[in-house]
Amino acid sequence: MYDAGKILAGLAIFVVLVATPFWWNAARGADTAPPRIEKPPAGTSCVLPPDQMRHEHMRLLIEWREEVVRQDLRTTRDAAGRPLRKSLSESCLACHGGREKSCDRCHDWLDVRVYCWDCHSDMGARRAAVAGGR
Ligand code: HEC
Ligand code: HEC
Ligand code: HEC
Repeated sequence: MYDAGKILAGLAIFVVLVATPFWWNAARGADTAPPRIEKPPAGTSCVLPPDQMRHEHMRLLIEWREEVVRQDLRTTRDAAGRPLRKSLSESCLACHGGREKSCDRCHDWLDVRVYCWDCHSDMGARRAAVAGGR
């Protein structure tokens, strides 16, 4: 009635198929590790605590944009209370070592497309490159 050979073979094929995605991810290794972004200079603080920045930076940037462009309110304070310019290039990118070492690492990993760079330049990174003699 039962064909043990066929059942075992079927089970083996099933196990291989179910396990393949796990092996595939294990083999990809480093590719699947969460991105590490460049550490901003020691002694600086972000606009909000890091955990909040991770979740809310997109909303905060749009808030800054509205306040600067519509109300000409160009300054704020960082999480430690130090004065800060509300600027994508001059603040965020300057502290975070430029686009490629911060924003892009997360966005590329997660496949998030951000259109801001059509207009906003990577001043922070360019300044760092000039300072580094390149
Ligand atoms: C004065 C320097 C400074 C400015 C300006 C600044 N940041 Fe930060 N940012 C930091 C520091 C310091 C951390 C915490 C890093 C850590 O603890 O590893 C941080 C953390 C973050 C994180 C969380 C990173 C992570 O590893 O999960 C995000 C996202 C972020 N910042 C985005 C921004 C954006 C967007 C702006 C502009 C609106 C900005 N930052 C402006 C210094 C700055
Ligand atoms: C710790 C990882 C991380 C870092 C660092 C980071 N982002 Fe993001 N960003 C995300 C994630 C995740 C999303 C998508 C959120 C969603 O789709 O709900 C996002 C979305 C955005 C969006 C909205 C895009 C959209 O179409 O809705 C903007 C704008 C943005 N990020 C700007 C920046 C800028 C500028 C920097 C660098 C200063 C930066 N982000 C750094 C993780 C990060
Ligand atoms: C079509 C061009 C364009 C695009 C695309 C664009 N911006 Fe802007 N943005 C501007 C201009 C012009 C200003 C005004 C600059 C000023 O008055 O200093 C500005 C100002 C800002 C400011 C405040 C001033 C500063 O120096 O940063 C923020 C913050 C900002 N934009 C964020 C964003 C974000 C986030 C995105 C993407 C989600 C984005 N912008 C996309 C053109 C653009």
